[in-house]
Amino acid sequence: MSKEMTRRAMLAAAGAGAALGAAAQDAPPAEEKILIIGVSGSPRKGKTTATAMAAALEAAKGVDPRITTELVDLGGMKIAGSDGTSSSAGSAPDDFDAILPLLKSPNLGGLLIGSPCYFRSLSSLCKAFLERLAVLREPELLLADVPVGALAVGSYRNGGQELVIEQILTAMLCHEAMLVGGKPRAHQGATLWNAHKDDIAQDELGMESARLLGVRVAGAAVKLAASKK
Ligand SMILES: Cc1cc2nc3c(=O)[nH]c(=O)nc-3n(C[C@H](O)[C@H](O)[C@H](O)COP(=O)(O)O)c2cc1C
Repeated sequence: MSKEMTRRAMLAAAGAGAALGAAAQDAPPAEEKILIIGVSGSPRKGKTTATAMAAALEAAKGVDPRITTELVDLGGMKIAGSDGTSSSAGSAPDDFDAILPLLKSPNLGGLLIGSPCYFRSLSSLCKAFLERLAVLREPELLLADVPVGALAVGSYRNGGQELVIEQILTAMLCHEAMLVGGKPRAHQGATLWNAHKDDIAQDELGMESARLLGVRVAGAAVKLAASKK
């Protein structure tokens, strides 16, 4: 009996057969997984940007069984902007270093980047994160052809959401990434209005735009994966 069969038999005997069952059998092989990472660029952990990003990722997951997602909430992290070199850093190690291995995953299929609107621009934390992505440009363009979509949340209905999205996507052009927009009513990406004291779920249109962005990025990632076969 193979080692795996022995393990299965033991789990079944322990009454864990059902747990092992369908999920494990349906899981795609590791190399076929398509990873979609969603980055929330608000300094406030778990607030509106992170909530909207989580919804986008959840929707992305529904596109294809091979899709796995990771939410990277920059809230509470210390990330310095680039020190002007194209290598990783900041002058000292910081929280970006912990995120880097995930961003370098060979399974990376798509990237979603979100920021709150701060004075009609992106947050300094999100900007610092984008600058530090320089390490993924040289010596090799690791994000080339990766579908990237953007999401922005503001407390005003017209608080600069589209400008923030444009700034994020413009930065990603430097990586030769594939920029992905949204769907009708939010063609540029996901635009959300925090009009209910951080209860962003009440912005139904905005949350829908987040979900549709997740679906768009995931759809593009799946098409690209097929083209690589
Ligand atoms: C310094 C600062 C500047 C802001 N500027 C804007 C703005 O220009 N437009 C806007 O719509 N909201 C603005 N806001 C509100 C935030 O974008 C809004 O509360 C957002 O939901 C915060 O995201 P978070 O919940 O993920 O932290 C600002 C907030 C702060 C703290």
